[in-house]
Amino acid sequence: MASAPFLTLPELELPQSAGSITVSAPSNIALVKYWGKSKGQIPKNASISFTLSHCLTRTTLSYTPLILSKGVAAPEFDVFVDGKSKPEFAPKIFTFFERITPYMPWVSSFQWRIDTKNTFPHGSGIASSASGFAALAGALMHLEASWSRQPIDQELWTDKTSFLARLGSGSAARSVIGPLMYWGQHPALSQSSDLYARALSQNIDPIFLDYKDTILLVDQGEKEVSSTVGHNLMHDHPFATQRFEQAQDNLARLLDILSGGDLDEFCALVETEALTLHAMMMTSNPSYVLMKPNTLAIIDKVRKFRRTANVPLCFTLDAGANVHLLYPANFAQQIMPWIQQELSPLCQGGQFIEDQVGQGLKKL
Ligand code: PMV
Repeated sequence: MASAPFLTLPELELPQSAGSITVSAPSNIALVKYWGKSKGQIPKNASISFTLSHCLTRTTLSYTPLILSKGVAAPEFDVFVDGKSKPEFAPKIFTFFERITPYMPWVSSFQWRIDTKNTFPHGSGIASSASGFAALAGALMHLEASWSRQPIDQELWTDKTSFLARLGSGSAARSVIGPLMYWGQHPALSQSSDLYARALSQNIDPIFLDYKDTILLVDQGEKEVSSTVGHNLMHDHPFATQRFEQAQDNLARLLDILSGGDLDEFCALVETEALTLHAMMMTSNPSYVLMKPNTLAIIDKVRKFRRTANVPLCFTLDAGANVHLLYPANFAQQIMPWIQQELSPLCQGGQFIEDQVGQGLKKL
């Protein structure tokens, strides 16, 4: 078991009757990407992300105390998405429960029902694992805090929530608070850890605090290669060492950019990170391409528009074909009509999502 102050098990008074809790957690978009991990969801490099505010998972977690004599060894649960039973999600959630049990042994004392709903369209290519596992971890932590005999310190609470979320999906560690989160050890961030993410709280130019992220839904199909497979392909990747070093350097540079507010530098760095992530996929063995022709068409248009209209607009990509457009809120009036006219025809069904930087988990 990893050692950290928040992993000391609190003394709890468990309820004798059934109950529930509802929380929402947002997705996040990495500026410096996490791609490649060691056993136990330990990242190979540090990453940093904007926490979003509109792409959310809302989860109601209901519990019924199990009769002790039943003597279950593992947590029992049912999963529902939009009110429909989804047994296909059970293996991933089972693994999550197994991984968190050493840090929350009480989870096996209950029968669980997980009801989730995403605000973004299902199969839109927006990863629901980050928001989904952050919501689940947050719900469990709210329960633990409410049953604890001693009050739980806020910082310990967020560290442990992020730690648990990480065990479901690495990037979920960065969906707990906002507006910017860093995760993974880095010499420039004395509080950084591979075990959990923390909010970047100092030296951020205010321009980044209400940044826009317009998500262009280029391809709403299932991803052809999962993130798990992608991360694993970094193990024998010919450029892995250089990539991990580059990410650490880029993170250090990004910290300067975030405090100095140089938007040209920001655009250059964020786009390099996005294309490097996809370059890793395109040069792994086996290689694969997640971008679609319209992804490239959009990238081309973004770069031309930035030059001709002189706007600080840039793109980033997740592990998929959709394009995230990042720009300061005070440019929205100029940029939105252009997105409507020029880019929405390149999206499936003309669809895009208007999101922006946000604050993370909420208890509802
Ligand atoms: O959280 P995972 O294991 O699905 O990894 C996703 C990693 C990227 O979204 C591609 C990049 C990142 O840092 O979020």
